[in-house]
Amino acid sequence: MTQSIGFIGGGNIAEAMISGLKKTNSTLKIRVTNLKNQGRLQGLVDRYNVMASSLKELVENSSVLIIAVKPKDVQAVLKDLMDYPLRDKLIISVAAGVPLKVFYKYLPGVAVIRAMPNTSTAVLHSMTGLVRGNNVTAEQAEAGEKIFSATGRIMWVPEKNINALTAISGSGPAYFYLFAESLIKAGVELGLSEEEAEILVLETLIGSGKMIAESDKSPGRLREEVTSPNGTTYAAINVFMDEKLSSTVLTAVKACCRRAEDLEGEYS
Ligand SMILES: NC(=O)c1ccc[n+]([C@@H]2O[C@H](COP(=O)([O-])OP(=O)(O)OC[C@H]3O[C@@H](n4cnc5c(N)ncnc54)[C@H](OP(=O)(O)O)[C@@H]3O)[C@@H](O)[C@H]2O)c1
Repeated sequence: MTQSIGFIGGGNIAEAMISGLKKTNSTLKIRVTNLKNQGRLQGLVDRYNVMASSLKELVENSSVLIIAVKPKDVQAVLKDLMDYPLRDKLIISVAAGVPLKVFYKYLPGVAVIRAMPNTSTAVLHSMTGLVRGNNVTAEQAEAGEKIFSATGRIMWVPEKNINALTAISGSGPAYFYLFAESLIKAGVELGLSEEEAEILVLETLIGSGKMIAESDKSPGRLREEVTSPNGTTYAAINVFMDEKLSSTVLTAVKACCRRAEDLEGEYS
């Protein structure tokens, strides 16, 4: 990867991306600017050998600008960017719920990719959804793919599907964290120490993930294979079924998708 990357915003997702990118290419030139938190910016410089930079210096020296600010702050960033020529730049926005048309309103003709990574970027296992804006060249699309492929897998989707993708993979890590948290609590309830329960849950989660990833069987098939009628797993799975786990998951995912749609309305 030869391009230089500028992060506008140096918070959680920027750090997860920087950490992943630096793991795969330690010499990659990365500049970062934020709003006011100098300590946070210096922390990034110390930990990842990135350059703290003014917006001007960042824009002038980066071929790819990654907008990693909260959705409510995107319009302020776009107003700032109106002062610069962006003809050969690729803008990548990771802000949830900010549609492409907002970028075109402030920066007509700009090449922009909307991206929805997740925090597993930091361990090189992100699942990132990408939406290609009208003005993105084939070369720029490839550059965007490379950035996110360095930290996991990517999937191009039409913009109408980005909220569904957000509800599955963007917010998905938190769902698995919640399940792990609940299982640890349950283990402690049953008399295990917290440390023991954590190890058991962690290894089980990693092993199950690997089984799903590496076997050619579906998760449903794998579940059936470990659930003997009237056995121990069967007793637990029956409770999940009776308590309608699948429909709770569907309701939760729909709520996430609706929230993403609401945000799109608010930030349009
Ligand atoms: N966290 C996730 O898992 C995740 C996943 C996918 C997408 N996203 C998206 O990523 C975006 C950032 O989320 P986050 O969790 O990383 O937020 P965060 O930790 O709050 O970081 C936001 C950053 O934006 C900076 N900022 C705010 N206004 C700015 C401006 N006008 N110019 C330059 N920098 C500015 C802040 O600077 P100061 O610290 O100086 O205020 C801070 O560094 C959000 O839009 C979110 O939807 C997050």
